[in-house]
Amino acid sequence: MSSSPPSALTATGIGKRFAGVTALSEVSLDFRPGEVLALMGENGAGKSTLLRVLSGDHTPDDGRLEIDGKPVIFDTPRAAMAAGVRVIYQEPEIIPHVSVAENVFVGELPQHGRVFNRRSLNRATQAALVEYGFENVLNPSTIGSRLSPAQRQIVEILRVLTATTPPKVIAFDEPTSSLSEHEVEALFRLIRRLRDSGVAVVYVSHRMNEIFRVADRVAVLRDGKLIGVKDATATDENELVRMMIGRDLSELRRRAAGNAGDVVLKLDSVTTDDVHDISFEVRAGEVVCLAGLVGAGRSELARAVFGDLPVRSGTVEFNGKPFHARNPGDAVRAGIGLAPEERKTDALLMQRSVRDNVSIAVLKRIRRFRIVRRAKERALVAEYIRELRVRTPSMEQEVRKLSGGNQQKIVLARWLARNPKLLILDEPTRGVDVGAKAEIYRIIDGLAAEGMALLVISSDMPEVLSLADRIVVMRGGRVAGEIARADATEEAVLTLAIPALEPAEEEVAS
Ligand SMILES: Nc1ncnc2c1ncn2[C@@H]1O[C@H](COP(=O)(O)OP(=O)(O)OP(=O)(O)O)[C@@H](O)[C@H]1O
Ligand SMILES: [Mg+2]
Repeated sequence: MSSSPPSALTATGIGKRFAGVTALSEVSLDFRPGEVLALMGENGAGKSTLLRVLSGDHTPDDGRLEIDGKPVIFDTPRAAMAAGVRVIYQEPEIIPHVSVAENVFVGELPQHGRVFNRRSLNRATQAALVEYGFENVLNPSTIGSRLSPAQRQIVEILRVLTATTPPKVIAFDEPTSSLSEHEVEALFRLIRRLRDSGVAVVYVSHRMNEIFRVADRVAVLRDGKLIGVKDATATDENELVRMMIGRDLSELRRRAAGNAGDVVLKLDSVTTDDVHDISFEVRAGEVVCLAGLVGAGRSELARAVFGDLPVRSGTVEFNGKPFHARNPGDAVRAGIGLAPEERKTDALLMQRSVRDNVSIAVLKRIRRFRIVRRAKERALVAEYIRELRVRTPSMEQEVRKLSGGNQQKIVLARWLARNPKLLILDEPTRGVDVGAKAEIYRIIDGLAAEGMALLVISSDMPEVLSLADRIVVMRGGRVAGEIARADATEEAVLTLAIPALEPAEEEVAS
């Protein structure tokens, strides 16, 4: 028998149960130095829970961890860190009132006894940003509360890379779900570099194309069990999908384009604090995708239309009439919906049950004749929750206990069921599994066919290309161009989205 490959960390027979849920059962995996192991599975399959066992955030109910053949017990995150095992989470904790630099070095400051002043912290952070290729995405002095999800993710990555204990195992939990194409490239370069330096990398993602670009082996979890481990070169998308969801996926076939109706939303030279001179239209029955890099101003534009950020100049027309939402309430009453990118802060009551979160969309409507509609709406949300296969032991479960992707499905279901005239979706499939993604595309397509106008912000290129009737690309707070469905290619989008590097006048983002 050949000797087994070296392992940086070995997990054997790991089990973890929560009230009513077996999150992991009998999971055995080895994490090998110099290798990227991808972890895939539907929302709620147990991926994040496994990472939390590796990071010492959860103590497993069964099984053991070993390093170099010796058992290790990670009963606290500190114990795992000391052994060089680090996890970069989906929703990193950021201290809101201090700078990026302080957020990066927050874990390190007290132990060192060194005196850091702000300038040296900023300098160290800037050096790390340049070294790892993120200097255009983040500024060391920005305050935590102002960071986008992508920027938060990068802060978390820098924390690990600048740690005093060099990492042996680094696990990324859906690192690209809030990054756009450009940052994804930087992240992949970083991951390959870590791998080549002998780190065991664990990579959780729902994006199939990424898996084949970056992974050496792929492990698939389903209902908390390990279904199998495949060499990336010896498997394909269909096999992985079958392992994950136990069936094949039907291709999204968009209805024939060209059935767009009246103009529902018309922006003319709209300018806010973040975006300038934005003009484009969305028609009834049309799906317009807003593409662009992180920081291009897409979410800010959406929030301005929704009355959540002020419009400084220019005009918005809705249903052919001038429209000015002073607050989101105005927008909702007029028939506009916005499912925001950050489910935690903007959209969900994390401490409340699934049922409460489903009802809340309609609680504020007190007029009596709407009661019937309310009941209908609630039934519709429940139906969407079924269709999207939200994994929860019951409607009474607290939302914070659901997996990330299942929380996202609830946000979406709520807005889909309200049936607005214009629905703005900001990264609607962020963190959603392949099966549910296909279902969401089918629902979006159906809503468009019924005449809804949809404006979809997405950093997921295959998503943009398969959903959009038209693509509006933003760059640096402005519209860089529009692409019709017939001309939509990845290259066309990227050419508009990425600032041209002309030797004479090099543009620098941020
Ligand atoms: N603290 C908790 N209390 C109760 N149940 C939990 C808790 N954490 C996770 N679960 C449940 O354990 C199961 C696995 O969740 P986990 O977060 O590991 O899924 P995941 O594979 O990461 O999914 P996603 O792709 O949506 O992120 C889910 O059913 C989830 O609801
Ligand atoms: Mg997860």
